[in-house]
Amino acid sequence: MKIAISGKGGVGKTTLAALLAQAYANAGRNVLAVDADPSPCLAGALGFPPKLRAQLHPIAEMDDLILERTGARPGTTGGFFTLNPRVDDIPERFSVLHRGVRLLEMGSVDLGGSGCICPESALLKTLFTHLLFRKDDMLVLDMYAGVEHLGRATVDFVDAMIVVVEPTRRSLGTAAQIKHLANDIGLTRLWLVGNKVLDEEEEAFLERETPGLPVLGFLPADLAVQEADRLGIAVYDHVPALRHSAEHMAEILEHQIFKEE
Ligand SMILES: Nc1ncnc2c1ncn2[C@@H]1O[C@H](COP(=O)(O)OP(=O)(O)OP(=O)(O)O)[C@@H](O)[C@H]1O
Ligand SMILES: [Mg+2]
Repeated sequence: MKIAISGKGGVGKTTLAALLAQAYANAGRNVLAVDADPSPCLAGALGFPPKLRAQLHPIAEMDDLILERTGARPGTTGGFFTLNPRVDDIPERFSVLHRGVRLLEMGSVDLGGSGCICPESALLKTLFTHLLFRKDDMLVLDMYAGVEHLGRATVDFVDAMIVVVEPTRRSLGTAAQIKHLANDIGLTRLWLVGNKVLDEEEEAFLERETPGLPVLGFLPADLAVQEADRLGIAVYDHVPALRHSAEHMAEILEHQIFKEE
């Protein structure tokens, strides 16, 4: 099962990605979590200890690997390089495993075709497509804001795309935009998750104003989320209210997706 998480900046994509990844891992699934944000922070949200975090480096920044696989140095244009480099060994070699979650940092990925034709994007695009083709038990993708950077492969292989919103009109506006862009490229399996929700009134607001996306669930606003970050521990361990909500969402998603198949 492959889940992509998107939404406006700062709404809680990484927090939700970490919660779902840990929920599925604890349910006995083999989870590959992919941080596709140019400034990765999923490792922190998952509570990876500093020693393991030090072993992680975004693939986009591995100049020697990019040279070895594509035949050209990142940043070079106009020369020859391979457009379909070998990538099958990358997920295992460069990921780090902690409490059942295998984490891979991709770095900045532009899959939509607007990116440069350069060695690094050839490697990242091939790797991304490979990840989507793999028969991973569970793939959780922490994307960055928007869907402009999503390509065909995402549409064909992602089972669910979650759009995270805060209970504000502005945030819902972005969700509507994402829905529009997603539908333009044929992606329809979208869900809404309301984060930082204070009370039932805010839940009702989101239910009422959703841009036509089914609501998967809500995560309460809780200052302990920031506290977990300061303490360097997983939100999953530190904030039971969020853990319970995320576990419930994980179950619904699985149920819905397998029902469709
Ligand atoms: N339910 C919550 N209650 C309180 N604070 C939260 C909650 N969820 C997330 N936060 C806080 O909001 C901030 C943004 O969260 P997060 O990094 O998960 O968002 P993001 O969408 O991944 O951001 P970015 O767009 O920068 O990648 C963090 O400081 C986080 O601690
Ligand atoms: Mg993030």
